This record gives sequence, C-alpha cells and structure tokens, in this order.
Amino acid sequence: MPKVKFIPQNREVEVEAGTTLLNAADAAGLYIEGDCAGKGTCGKCRVKMIKGGDAEPTAAEKKHLSKKELLGGWVLACQRKIEKDSIVEVPIQKDAHSRKITLAGGIEKLEAEPVIKKTHVKLDRPSVKDQTADLERLLGALGKEDLTVKPRELNALPKMLREHKFSVTATISGNRIISFEPDDTSDQMYGVAFDIGTTTIVGSLLDLKTASVIAVSATTNPQNIYGADVISRITHANQGKEQLQQLQNKVIEAANDIIKDLLKKTKIARDRIYEIVAVGNTTMSHLFMGIDPTYLAPAPFVPVYSRALDVEAAEIGLKINPAGRVTFLPNIAGYVGSDTLGVILATKMDQRSDNCAAIDIGTNGELVLKTRDTLMACSTAAGPAFEGAQIRQGMRAAAGAIEAVAYKDNDIKVTTIDNVPACGICGSGLIDAAAALLQAGLIEPSGRFFNFEENPEKVSDHFKNRLRRGKTGIEFVLVPAAESDIGEDIVLTQNDVRELQLAKGAIYAGLMILIKEAGIQEKDLDQILLAGAFGNYVSRESALTIGLLPQLPIDKIKAVGNAAGDGARVALASKSERDRAVKLPHQVKHMELSTRLDFQEFFIEAISFPKI
Ligand code: FES
Repeated sequence: MPKVKFIPQNREVEVEAGTTLLNAADAAGLYIEGDCAGKGTCGKCRVKMIKGGDAEPTAAEKKHLSKKELLGGWVLACQRKIEKDSIVEVPIQKDAHSRKITLAGGIEKLEAEPVIKKTHVKLDRPSVKDQTADLERLLGALGKEDLTVKPRELNALPKMLREHKFSVTATISGNRIISFEPDDTSDQMYGVAFDIGTTTIVGSLLDLKTASVIAVSATTNPQNIYGADVISRITHANQGKEQLQQLQNKVIEAANDIIKDLLKKTKIARDRIYEIVAVGNTTMSHLFMGIDPTYLAPAPFVPVYSRALDVEAAEIGLKINPAGRVTFLPNIAGYVGSDTLGVILATKMDQRSDNCAAIDIGTNGELVLKTRDTLMACSTAAGPAFEGAQIRQGMRAAAGAIEAVAYKDNDIKVTTIDNVPACGICGSGLIDAAAALLQAGLIEPSGRFFNFEENPEKVSDHFKNRLRRGKTGIEFVLVPAAESDIGEDIVLTQNDVRELQLAKGAIYAGLMILIKEAGIQEKDLDQILLAGAFGNYVSRESALTIGLLPQLPIDKIKAVGNAAGDGARVALASKSERDRAVKLPHQVKHMELSTRLDFQEFFIEAISFPKI
C-alpha cells in the first residue's frame, strides 16, 4: 500500500491505492478545507504534491487551478488519487476560531445553581457493634437514603473509605450518586457547554461552583469532509449505519479534542467534569447522539425527536467522568434547533414585552420574533455564503480574510483580519464589499455589475483597472496579486454578488413573514439582535445598505455575541435555566417557510439592493 506523508504537519499514513488525498489526510487526522464534500466543485481543497504527483490533472483541477499552479504541483486533494508513495504539502490552516472563542462567555454574569451536587462526609468507622454496610453508612450520613448508585461506582467505595480514613465526597446527579472521590473534593466541580455548529464547534469549561467560564476552545467541525451544509451530511448519514457512525465519530472526536485542550489549559482532572450541555441545529443534535436524521431532509422535515436528550457521557464516547451526564437541549423544529433556543434563553427574549427580532446567521439563518402577543421562529435556507462557502475566494474569518471594505475618497479600500496580506474574503467583508461597490455605483440595485464595456467613460480612473471581465463575467479586483498573500488577485465576482443576494433575500423574506404573521410592521420593531460571530463583526451600516435588515435607525440594531453558545452556558450553570430551556419549545410557534407562497414574493422583492 502506498504511503503518504503530509508536511509540515509531519503525519504519515498508509492507504489503499486509489484513495483520494482528501481521505488520506482525514485518515491521518488532518483537516483540509473544502466546501463541496469532494465533488470537485468548490476548488478549495488545494494542496501541493512534492513527490508522487505526476499524474495528469483532472478536469476539475484544470478548471480551478491556473497553469502556473498546475506546473507548481498544486492539486485538488479531493480529486487526486494516490497510486504511489507521496509527499504532500498542506497549507497551514489559518485559525478561524479566535472570534468565536473571544465571543464565548459574553453573558455578563451567570447565576450558579448547579444541577450536580457534591457533598463531603466523614463516616464513623464500622465495628463489631456497628456492622452497617458501607453504602448505607454513607447514605445515612448524607441524609438521603433514597439515592441510587450503579455497581460500577459502588465497587470503588469500600477500598476508598478504608484508605482515606472514611473521608469521602459523593457526587450526586438527580437521585443518583455518579461518583465517589477520596477526601474533600467538593470545591472541584466542572462542566462543559458546547455549541455544535455545522462549521465550528466551541466548548467552554465552566466552574460549576461559581458559574464562571474558565477556558474556551474551538475547532472546525470535521464532518465538513462530508459537505459544508446539513443536507450533504444528512445525505451521507442516509447511506447506512457505517456512514451515520462516521458522522457521529467525527463530532465526538472533535468534542473530545476540545475537552483535552480545555483540560490542558486549566490543569483540571478529566473526571472532575461531571456535565455537558450542548446546543446545535437539529441535524447536529441528531448526529451528536448518533441518531439517523434522514427524514429531516425531505418535506415535511420531521425530526426523530425534539425534546432534550440526556445520556451518560461514556455511552456516546465523550471523555469526561464516565458517569457524567450529557444533555442536548431541545429542538424547536426540523430546521430550528436548540441553538436558536439558546439564543432565546441567553437574550431572555421570551420575557420581553416589546417587539424584538433576533437573527443568527451561521451556516444557516435562523430568525426569532417576540412581540407582546407571540414568540415565533423560522429558519431560512440562506446557505453558507456568510461563512465564505460558494464565494469564489470566500473563507472563514481568519487572519488575512478581508473583513471590511469601504468606499472612501472615490476609492475602495480593504482591511484584513490582523492586518496581514489578504488571502480571501469572509462574510463581513462580503457584505461590506457589496455595500461599498453599490455606493461607488459599480454594482446596480439589480445586483449586476455596471457594464463598463458599454460605458467605459463612466468608470472613474480609480476603477479602470479593477473592474474587468473575468472567466465567469464582470468582476472587481479587491486586492491585486502583488499585494495579496496567495499570489493572485482577490476578486468579487458577479456570482459572488448573486450568492449574497440569495442569502440576504432569504433572511429578509423570513423576517418579513414573521413580522406579517405577528400583525406588526417593520417600523414597529424596537430592536434587532444580531447573534453569532458574524452578527458581531458585520457592519450594521453595510447590512442596512445592502438591505439585509429592515431600514431601522442604526441604534436599534445590537450585536449580542455568540448567544447560542451562551444559551448552553446558561443552562449548564443553572438548574432553573435548564428547566426553562426544556419548557421553551412549547412557547415558540414555528413558522415553516417552504409552504408559504408569500415567502417567494418577499424573497423576490428582497433580492435587489436598495437604491442608494
Ligand atoms: S473541490 Fe475538493 S472539496 Fe471542493
């Protein structure tokens, strides 16, 4: 079997001849960026063959790679099959998670009301006169005779008592003792809150005694290899038990990596983590629990379950205290998951008496509207454009991503994350770029680029060399090759603008349906909350300029950070909040947009940009 060595990560793996480089990298535990599940359509899984890459380029490689790149050994990892020993250079992935980590713990103060209880007791030693059994002796001291315990945990008790002078701490979850620890460990009680995103997984370690977030870690959701969107993953799961297991393994491994990182950062012992509370969209929730989400894909989009699911950590392979509990918060509907519930929980929207909308833009776009009379939610098929997918040089918000574009002094200026040379464009940059080009008159309200070929005299000198005809139509050069990090121009294409229009049109139309259904008007909105990393970094002015949001005064639009993840933290920290989370789905009216004829009307209206 041929061997493949990946550098500079220095990982080596042996694979069957004919295995793609993408799958070989996966087998070596390496993640290679790509959005199309290996179909060869996104062109993002570029790697460089140092040895063993002398096969003819495939049609997809010829389409996505320039002649210079092909000659330089660049290939698409999903297209290139390994036939002999190879050495492959994988570009170092830029850290795309720092913003999500920064936003974690955005809630000012969490109330500590842990579900888990730890009690330390010092027992009387048994004697011939007092032959009470160990467990009954302990329960008597705890004053809780009705607690249960499994043989696995009970087995550890007798020796522990005798080796530690009958000083023991019992950890109690509900009516069950889940662990015995020698001596007094009652001040060591931790839990992890997970936000399981389609693209990114974020874990926060909480000290349950104080409800404080003590460390945060994030990673790419490695299910990405099966596609950037939930439908691709459902399709993969639908192929059989093995494929479903692959998807569950990927997400559980990623969660375990995050736990490992959190423990390394804090030097806390693994078995002192007793609880995990997770949120995610409904598909993520199913895959995390290993439940087949097949019937979520076709209408009527029915999930297997919507209630909170509670399992033992060891049951699904999560490496915390083996008897620790894992709770995935309830989903609202097939495409409105516990992440949206988390937004409601963290922002306390349900308790507001004014008119407030929340928009959480990630790989999908979820919307919530609270008015005096109703609380409603829906999901729009906005697509992952705001995460950089389906955008020619789209990328996630990592160093080098164009994050801001401004039209100033008759020129278009770009700013990148960390002010390093540009290597692509992220969601906030995409919206800014469209807004700036609209202001400059280079994009028309219809979304078409200004036809500079018919009216060359109307293009200012500044833009003469930047507006040009590319392979797929007119495009605008945001950063020339000489200044970019990737040795090629970074452009905004006509297709990128179209993708943006579809995404923003879907979100706006979804919001309009909720507003109509609630019997209010746009102007009646008292506040719009923008949730998620995207919501935090997007320019509110640009979002208004392109018509992503209703035309409200800017001070009515507020970023609330990673509210979905905050929801998981709130529910982990507080029993009352967890109880509230369990009941919340019953208060939320779900609006299914696919059956609404007026959605199409709003959508078509919203696709155009507002006139400047
Ligand atoms: S082209 Fe390879 S993953 Fe998309």
